[in-house]
Amino acid sequence: MAAIFDDALKQSIETTRYNLGAMEEFPESFKHGAWQPIEKDRAAGHWVDGFWTGLLWLAYAHTGDSSLRTGAEDWTNRLAHMKISTGTHDLGFIFYLSHVLAGRLTAEPAWYDNAIEAAYTLTKRFNPRGEYLQAWDDDGIRKWAGRTNIDLMMNLALLHWASEITGDARLADIATLHARTSRLALVRGDGSTAHVADFDPNTGLLIRREQYQGYSHDSCWSRGQAWALYGFATCYRYTAIPGFLSTAQALADYSQRRLPADLVPFWDYDSPHIPDTYRDSSAAAVTVCGLLELAAVDKERASRWAGLAKRIMISLCENYLIRDATGPSSILQDGARSVPANLMEHGLIYGDYYFLEALTAFTRPDLHQRAFAVESALDGMSE
Ligand code: GLY
Repeated sequence: MAAIFDDALKQSIETTRYNLGAMEEFPESFKHGAWQPIEKDRAAGHWVDGFWTGLLWLAYAHTGDSSLRTGAEDWTNRLAHMKISTGTHDLGFIFYLSHVLAGRLTAEPAWYDNAIEAAYTLTKRFNPRGEYLQAWDDDGIRKWAGRTNIDLMMNLALLHWASEITGDARLADIATLHARTSRLALVRGDGSTAHVADFDPNTGLLIRREQYQGYSHDSCWSRGQAWALYGFATCYRYTAIPGFLSTAQALADYSQRRLPADLVPFWDYDSPHIPDTYRDSSAAAVTVCGLLELAAVDKERASRWAGLAKRIMISLCENYLIRDATGPSSILQDGARSVPANLMEHGLIYGDYYFLEALTAFTRPDLHQRAFAVESALDGMSE
């Protein structure tokens, strides 16, 4: 695969080493020359914490370096207490990219125990009347028992994985019911997505779709679109339910039609300020991983999706990769945490994580397969 990816991999691993030496708290955004932890007044829970452990585990897997492994183990152990936390819908992000990766990359299945417990904890957020997993909790002002969001699709892999490992079909059933509800409530006819859906938590009836991080209720927030693409493709891989494949195809098709010339989306596909508004390099990195997942399960169109993934990656490497880091830094620049909350133009730990996940798929399909059990769709692609 292209030498540009080998160079980007080298820089990403070097940057991760610098960060490991300096990191004191789980990071979210890189600005003012330093990693900043999540802004607790703006976002509940620890949803970003698994991205840092995921970076460390992948960097260790590429290098075999014992200090990266010790760092990965240490930061993973700091997340173990979250396995009984019923206050977040993001246990999938947190535990898949810490304990599940740890078990897969070290071949030490003892790591799985905490991840299995976390999967059971996540099911406590399932509302059987509306057949959705609840996103955020009430915060004293806003009543959110009826609220789900598109990002939650990315947490279903933990349930499917735990179902396979325990043989408990209920875990996978909850994931499938939630994905069906999300498809009906959050995916529009043109293949775009809304960010949140509100249900009546007592009757389960859909009340409305809304935007929270996007531009407007009718617009398409680009990172949400990317979470949906990756999430539905993963659900298809685990279930073979055709509707999940056609949904992932429609989502990918929408993104392909709407991407700008350099293939890195603006923060919202429908922002009226394009081109004079912010990019979100993290949305691009998640889109690449979602396209590669789709390519792995959609044999007929695999080369279309993998080809697009590769072109987006080349643009990230050429235009958004920070090449000259000689100390703590994000790997990518120009992420947008939340433009409505005035948080943009920074590095983001999830942009960095998915960039390294994608580089792993392009440069070391064997490692990617070990980490995620996803068959590579890249074999035989021309340089
Ligand atoms: N999961 C929240 C976000 O993507 O910002």
